[in-house]
Amino acid sequence: MIYLDYSATTPVSDHVIASDRDFHKQSFANPNSIHRLGIEALKGIEETTLEIQEVLGCKNHEVTYTSGATESNNMALKGIAFQNKSLGNHIITSPFEHGSIVTTLNYLSKQGFEIDVVGVDEDGRVDIEDLKSLLTDQTILISIGLVNSELGIVQDLEAIKKTIEAYPQIIFHSDMTQAIGKVKLNYELADLISLSAHKIYGFKGIGALLHRKDFPITPVIHGGKSWSVFRGGTPPTSLIHSLGVAIKDAYENLDDHCKHIKELNDYLAKGLRKINGCMINSNAYSVPHILNFSLVKTKANILQDYLSENDVFVSTTSACSSDQPMSRVVYALTEDMDRAQSSIRVSLSHLTSFKEIDRLIDLLEDYHESR
Ligand SMILES: Cc1ncc(COP(=O)(O)O)c(C=O)c1O
Repeated sequence: MIYLDYSATTPVSDHVIASDRDFHKQSFANPNSIHRLGIEALKGIEETTLEIQEVLGCKNHEVTYTSGATESNNMALKGIAFQNKSLGNHIITSPFEHGSIVTTLNYLSKQGFEIDVVGVDEDGRVDIEDLKSLLTDQTILISIGLVNSELGIVQDLEAIKKTIEAYPQIIFHSDMTQAIGKVKLNYELADLISLSAHKIYGFKGIGALLHRKDFPITPVIHGGKSWSVFRGGTPPTSLIHSLGVAIKDAYENLDDHCKHIKELNDYLAKGLRKINGCMINSNAYSVPHILNFSLVKTKANILQDYLSENDVFVSTTSACSSDQPMSRVVYALTEDMDRAQSSIRVSLSHLTSFKEIDRLIDLLEDYHESR
């Protein structure tokens, strides 16, 4: 089995599994309980939170734990839109956002918010001049992800932040689900940050929204007093602990992992370029972890099925929109329907070997020759 879909999800690391097992032996109390065991459980969350803030360099951000990045994105967008609607009703986003951003913004548009999608340049990076032209005194929120999940293109958050500085009422949200553990940056550029553990060798069902401490958010999940006043419910102590472990691990070996992954990416790109009709959609701004290509005139799901029958697993679009017949993100970049309908995302890991890439290339060559 050759798994090349690490941007959809990652296997849980042995370290995360082992520390989770140890955690359960030591702690099970409800951190909302006010007896000694409860207070100790709460202290555990505080320690993990300090570690996360430290590793990510986000000491001015509060950490609210969620079930994953979809919930974090909902909480960020609805939370700010509803909280600040007296200041304005205008929201700006990019054409490269994950489905959980797109659908939440569609919902907000039905609630009376005006949504604008900023243009991108030929490299898929936010067009700063277009962004400037969209800003108004009514703009309350900008949501632009740091790394797009299909093409891996990294946005220039510094330039975006600088552009919106003249509008103090604007809150800047960035979905960093595909960036955490891959791209080092001053994450504090964003007022709100979404992340998810299962993209960084942690468990599914836990993520976080980091949000600057100096403004409130309308809760999406109401409840009693808990770890966060912005999200009710008993905090999942072991999952929170495991998220902390996954984040720390992701940064411990980031440089070595990125070096290996870049070499794999170059090797794969070289192999793909030898196949007639193969076009690479990712570009110089993409993280090495993602290589998106199109074998033009071959529908993506047909190629994906063929690879899957041969025990090689890749994505067509992002996992959450894989029922769509074409990639809206590849179309937004290339304006080429053939490429958008045939786009395949290969996502790589430090666990990936060159032999696995060889097998993928061999299969693609065989497929091409048999047509
Ligand atoms: C950029 C991005 N945002 C959000 C999500 C949703 O994350 P989760 O599965 O944790 O809800 C994903 C997952 O594919 C993603 O890639």
